[in-house]
Amino acid sequence: MALAGQGLLAPTATAAEVEEPSALPLGLPAGGFASPRDNPSTPEKIALGRLLYFDSRLSADDTIACSSCHLPAKAFTDNLPAAVGIDGSVGTRSAPTVINRGSASEQFWDGRAASLEEQAKGPLVNPIEMGMPSLEAVTKKVAAIAGYREFFDEVFGRPVHIDDIARAIAAFERTVVSGNSRFDRYEAGKRDALTEAELRGLAIFRSKGRCSQCHSGWNLSDEKYHNTGVGWDQAMVDVGRFSVTGREEDMGAVRTPTLREISRTAPYMKDGRFDTLEQVVDYYDEGVIWNPFLDVELTRKTRTLEQTLEMYSGEGEPGPAPKAEVQDLELTDQEKRDLVAFLKTLDGEGWREIRAPSEFPR
Ligand code: HEC
Ligand code: HEC
Repeated sequence: MALAGQGLLAPTATAAEVEEPSALPLGLPAGGFASPRDNPSTPEKIALGRLLYFDSRLSADDTIACSSCHLPAKAFTDNLPAAVGIDGSVGTRSAPTVINRGSASEQFWDGRAASLEEQAKGPLVNPIEMGMPSLEAVTKKVAAIAGYREFFDEVFGRPVHIDDIARAIAAFERTVVSGNSRFDRYEAGKRDALTEAELRGLAIFRSKGRCSQCHSGWNLSDEKYHNTGVGWDQAMVDVGRFSVTGREEDMGAVRTPTLREISRTAPYMKDGRFDTLEQVVDYYDEGVIWNPFLDVELTRKTRTLEQTLEMYSGEGEPGPAPKAEVQDLELTDQEKRDLVAFLKTLDGEGWREIRAPSEFPR
């Protein structure tokens, strides 16, 4: 919780303080979508947050809403390599899905926001996203709408405030979940939920492919930051988590994304470089881009420990100093097909009923 104290809001609650909006689909942990202590969920607050999430009047020229880049019809992302905001401005990173983000505290590829509440304020005033001049201007604009003034009074018992705008949006986002995929049903004991090919793919995912070293747990993410070499073939490198911590081990590292709904959220990676899951698998198999900060999971030493000790004791063959190199997976074509088949079993439900409101407060 190193970052929590720097946020404008209290840190995210622990499981002991759970207040869940509704029952979660199979596979999602009870208590996994806890609301922070200062933002308990209520149906009214979620309804208000949904209106704000879809309302383009929260942008400078009334054209962009949160839902412009995180669309329900596109599994809460936009299917673009880089997000497009106000005046057609193109950002530098691909929009991640909002699905299941309510289960984590740190947000953004580099985790620079300590909570969903803090995250929600970012795009409002980002000049290439919703383009509002300031957070005060957002408050004023929302407060100028009588219907919203009433709604905020009903939900929070006070005038419109930017922190409450963020709280309502975050409460809504905690309802955007995905579970009960065929993978979840398999994990719950329904042995025929996956085909033979998908089961072989799952085994590759957990063993030879080493995917589950990072894509671990119920959300297929360890919520940690890794350098996978993506982007290190460009003139300008995305430093990722390093910009938040300044630590060498975070250079070029971004948070492991969930793989839930992955068949629907192309293009892939933070720069949207891959259009298909086959391309992603090929990348891990033999395309990982070497850089000095590459995650240890993707590297191997060029000499074994024994060879290294021998070399330094003067007994072995003299040679170049041991270094790490990219570890190819050496998957067969069949194994790659199976792995992709498994990834496609991660489509679930919970988020699908969510639609844009037909009317907004006036
Ligand atoms: C112009 C497109 C755009 C708009 C509008 C936009 N976002 Fe995003 N969103 C992005 C991009 C791009 C990122 C990743 C940015 C980064 O990591 O630096 C992101 C990241 C996020 C994340 C973090 C997800 C994760 O995996 O860490 C959440 C949550 C989110 N947005 C919610 C919202 C909300 C709520 C709004 C409205 C207040 C909003 N977004 C408006 C493009 C957009
Ligand atoms: C060292 C940790 C690590 C390992 C091992 C790993 N991944 Fe990833 N994965 C990541 C990170 C981090 C990203 C985001 C990289 C980026 O965009 O820079 C990612 C991105 C992805 C994406 C794109 C997600 C999206 O929303 O854009 C897919 C699909 C994926 N990985 C599948 C796999 C598969 C399949 C394997 C095994 C062959 C695997 N990963 C192994 C950490 C890992």
